[in-house]
Amino acid sequence: MEKVINWGIMATGKIAHTFAKAVNYVDGATLYACASRSKEKAEKFGNQYGAQKCYGSYEELAADENIDVIYIATPMNCHYENVKLCFEHGKNVLCEKSVTINSTQLRELIEIAKEKNLFFMEAMWTKCLPAFRKAKEWVAEGKIGTIKAIRADFSNSVDFDENDRLFRPELGGGALLDLSVYPLSLITSFLGFEPKKISSSVNIDKLGVDMDEAVIMQYENAYASFVSGFDIDNENRAVIVGTDGKIAFNPWFFCTDTVRLYDRNNKLIEESITPHLCNGYEFEVMEVQNCLNDGLKESRINPLHDTLAIMDIMDSLRKEWGFAYPEE
Ligand SMILES: NC(=O)c1ccc[n+]([C@@H]2O[C@H](COP(=O)([O-])OP(=O)(O)OC[C@H]3O[C@@H](n4cnc5c(N)ncnc54)[C@H](OP(=O)(O)O)[C@@H]3O)[C@@H](O)[C@H]2O)c1
Repeated sequence: MEKVINWGIMATGKIAHTFAKAVNYVDGATLYACASRSKEKAEKFGNQYGAQKCYGSYEELAADENIDVIYIATPMNCHYENVKLCFEHGKNVLCEKSVTINSTQLRELIEIAKEKNLFFMEAMWTKCLPAFRKAKEWVAEGKIGTIKAIRADFSNSVDFDENDRLFRPELGGGALLDLSVYPLSLITSFLGFEPKKISSSVNIDKLGVDMDEAVIMQYENAYASFVSGFDIDNENRAVIVGTDGKIAFNPWFFCTDTVRLYDRNNKLIEESITPHLCNGYEFEVMEVQNCLNDGLKESRINPLHDTLAIMDIMDSLRKEWGFAYPEE
């Protein structure tokens, strides 16, 4: 019989609430503990989701010996220290995207995870969704022939708020790490991690983070492109075009349950709809549970190689833009 996995949740912000619901939904998963920088917030969160332990510091959570895996949901700039803290206490980690602010931090964390034989995964939940996996299956079966182009956008208008982590450089803000990481995950999953050339345009906002960007990636025989940003309302579609057909994700591609296969004349061949069972994050929880139960140290769906290669691409874009985070 599979072991019950005791989850710890680090931080009590927006996505931590969504994730807690998914943990509570999945069989064999227990939301055992949560932690906030404030004991009061931890207790409020813990009471809401039935956590047995509510800690007023991240250190106490990391030190709890009954925890099997810790989900980190802090702002981007905190991830490096938070993941290290968990590793120091011998804890497996699922860390929110983007997993670090740069590849130097990520390389170091991967080394530590390997040394200590711990599970480590970036929470790129899109790759765990059935729609994404169906698209992978269709491509592997040759249903659209050779991929020639991918278009994937992720942007939406967010009211400017100088206190919001999205706009603050010292909290790892900016559209690249927050939004572009999704189209980059999709594009690299289908075309690989070594484009011949990357061209881009960016707007840096008044607080110094990237507000929006447009990126074109040229591969040996294909192009990929995306627009991301906090100031553009977009349909957020993703389309993979091949020599023999195309695959279209429903709008808000990174969370959709629906994907369609068309032939080269635009005739619908197959539609795949797999409704979320809870809120979509349950598939990511299940992936981590399966990995832990199978004794794996990396996800098969989202291996560390992929996360690191995407981080390298994001580093190269920021270098071109002359945009560094305060700690860099
Ligand atoms: N997978 C997804 O769909 C998805 C969606 C949204 C966000 N995310 C990712 O999840 C992470 C958190 O995003 P969020 O939208 O949940 O952010 P948020 O609402 O601002 O929450 C972040 C939480 O981190 C903790 N924290 C620790 N140090 C902090 C600091 N210096 N300043 C502010 N908060 C601090 C706080 O919790 P305590 O006060 O309890 O300690 C805060 O509530 C980011 O990495 C983001 O990219 C993922």
